[in-house]
Amino acid sequence: MLDKYGRNIDYLRISITDRCNLRCKYCMPDGCGKVAHEDVLSYEEFLRLAGIFAALGFRHFRVTGGEPLVREGAADFVRALKRVPGVEKVTMTTNGLLLTKYGPALAEAGLDGVNISLDTTRPERLEAITGARDVAARVDEAVALMLSLGVPVKINAVLLRETAPDICALAEYAAAGVPVRFIELMPVGEGRYLTGYDPDEALAALRRRWPDLHPEDVKLGFGPAAYYKSAGLSAPIGFIDAVSHRFCSGCNRVRLTSQGYLKPCLCFDEGADLRALLRGGRTDGEIREAIRAAVHNKPRQHCFENPAAMTEKHLMSQIGG
Ligand code: GTP
Ligand code: 5AD
Ligand code: SF4
Repeated sequence: MLDKYGRNIDYLRISITDRCNLRCKYCMPDGCGKVAHEDVLSYEEFLRLAGIFAALGFRHFRVTGGEPLVREGAADFVRALKRVPGVEKVTMTTNGLLLTKYGPALAEAGLDGVNISLDTTRPERLEAITGARDVAARVDEAVALMLSLGVPVKINAVLLRETAPDICALAEYAAAGVPVRFIELMPVGEGRYLTGYDPDEALAALRRRWPDLHPEDVKLGFGPAAYYKSAGLSAPIGFIDAVSHRFCSGCNRVRLTSQGYLKPCLCFDEGADLRALLRGGRTDGEIREAIRAAVHNKPRQHCFENPAAMTEKHLMSQIGG
């Protein structure tokens, strides 16, 4: 459906849990407060909402967390989501650790793609960022597994000052055929208190290694990444520069939190409490109108350059990235 600025909003990110098995320093270094189980939407509730979103023209659904795979039944949820009339693509963003366990079930459920977070391939630095050991090796295994199962994989790396020297090593994944996206640190949640690494400097570093790296209009998924190619890389490298290269005019998505709160923009807390409507006995038609109104009023753009004006105060793990 169109919002009031004429943008076609057809992509819903569904956070099925705000729990996680890692403690990334820009996301949830101290863990998250435990949300009572009854406050989190059941899969049946998510599916009912997905049907209403699909009826409004939403086609792409991304399952996020926290870490989505720590919630039991995530693969069955993917399977059910794929069957909702109107749903075209179902993808997932994950830290990858549980893919060795659930990868085959996800592939069998019809998952259309997986984005796996990996900020650096250097074990000791990754341990300092995530709070866990052996993450790089486990992610590497997960990438190979998902590819062997025929599920397209992309790597997501948040640009941090301390991982700047590792950028080219991480980009070797792209040389090996797996797209790598570098994400500018956003001042959301813990990201407010950290200094990221400038994406333009990251691009310059990559160009020293692959001088012919050039922008190319490739479509990999439905997100805001801008892609670059080089003859030396068999897959593209992407940049998600939300702060320095604002891409809000082309934004196509809204977010649903694990507690059923519809968030039209990452930067602002204003939205619609769909859980209250679901549990208050409202009809599909009434819920549809609430969604339509919230999407219609989606803000024109974020204000990350002025964090004091942001009304979003939640952690990224509670929003789903
Ligand atoms: P694809 O469909 O594969 O392109 O996925 P995606 O890039 O939309 O999803 P993913 O979960 O991998 O997100 C990667 C990064 O992009 C995360 O840090 C998200 O927070 C960020 N991101 C995704 N959508 C938006 C958006 O609309 N605004 C901003 N500011 N950041 C976004
Ligand atoms: N800024 C940018 N990206 C972030 N992510 C989590 N927190 C931030 C932040 N403050 C990323 C994760 C994951 C995706 C869902 O969001 O690394 O790739
Ligand atoms: Fe977990 Fe992802 Fe947050 Fe890291 S960024 S703590 S993997 S939810």
